[in-house]
Amino acid sequence: MAIKTVGVLGCGLMGAGIAQVSAAAGYKTIVREVTQGALDKGLGRIEKFLNGGVEKGKMTAEQRDQTLGNLSGTTTFDGLASCDLVIEAIIENVEEKTKAFAALDALVQDHTIYASNTSSLCITELAAKTKRPDRFGGLHFFNPVPIMKLVEVIRALTTSDETHEALLGFGRSIGKEVVTAPDRPGFIVNRLLVPYLLDAIRCYERGLGTREDIDNAMKLGCGYPMGPLTLLDFVGLDTTYYIAEIMFDEFKEPMFAAPTLLKRMVLAGKLGRKSGEGFYKY
Ligand code: CAA
Repeated sequence: MAIKTVGVLGCGLMGAGIAQVSAAAGYKTIVREVTQGALDKGLGRIEKFLNGGVEKGKMTAEQRDQTLGNLSGTTTFDGLASCDLVIEAIIENVEEKTKAFAALDALVQDHTIYASNTSSLCITELAAKTKRPDRFGGLHFFNPVPIMKLVEVIRALTTSDETHEALLGFGRSIGKEVVTAPDRPGFIVNRLLVPYLLDAIRCYERGLGTREDIDNAMKLGCGYPMGPLTLLDFVGLDTTYYIAEIMFDEFKEPMFAAPTLLKRMVLAGKLGRKSGEGFYKY
């Protein structure tokens, strides 16, 4: 069954990016938010990014208009009934995700595939709680979605070969490189990235260098686009803390344990760019 219409649950930072790349690839894309206000904000974010792309000469005004033409919004689950693939990008909470998929189960077509963009929750658990555990997998995107070239495609224990192939094909069709990752906390990227970020905080805590020196060392010494403390502010300290907790809970290995400073910064509301202050001020 060919995928023609894509639904995206959630139009926050990740949902908006996913909806944008899906619409840009020619899929009719319907994005669902809980309130009209949140929907307008998310769609506005997409329009702003596309306008920026035209200004930077990355796309033509015609391509922008085509993408916007493929995109629509809804505040109801009914609005996603015609979707062949629904990608969930809502809050990282099993109950909320389960509720959303349960609401869709009664509405979508038999062949519809579900995918979750979760970065840390168990795909098999989410799949098992739906009426289509074989038509369920993970599609893990990276921030900023329109620019980052990778999508991790995750197989739950229950994902069928057909579903996995369809998700790999979808990832490629939107211009991304795909890698298959197992359903283990962190998949591939965060399994390697999170211990590195946590270690950077430990180094900073222990006075290995100033935040600027630690960031410059990794940026210029290794050719990374951002130093680790800048990247932590970019990803969000609360998000990193949350992922670390889940990984530590599963693996019980010290490298996944959240450093003292990270926990205190989250408690103080210093969440990075989104709150105006993290390791740096914005
Ligand atoms: N439309 C199209 N293209 C655009 C654009 C737009 N509106 N805005 C920017 N671009 C393009 C730029 O033209 C540029 O392309 P080229 O390289 O071909 O010239 C590219 O995007 C980068 O843009 P900028 O030059 O404006 O920005 P930058 O060089 O400062 O890079 C960044 C910004 C892409 C965020 C870069 O710093 C980076 O890659 N940082 C690391 C991000 C990262 O690691 N993300 C993953 C986080 S982990 C995660 O997300 C998973 C999780 O579960 C936590």
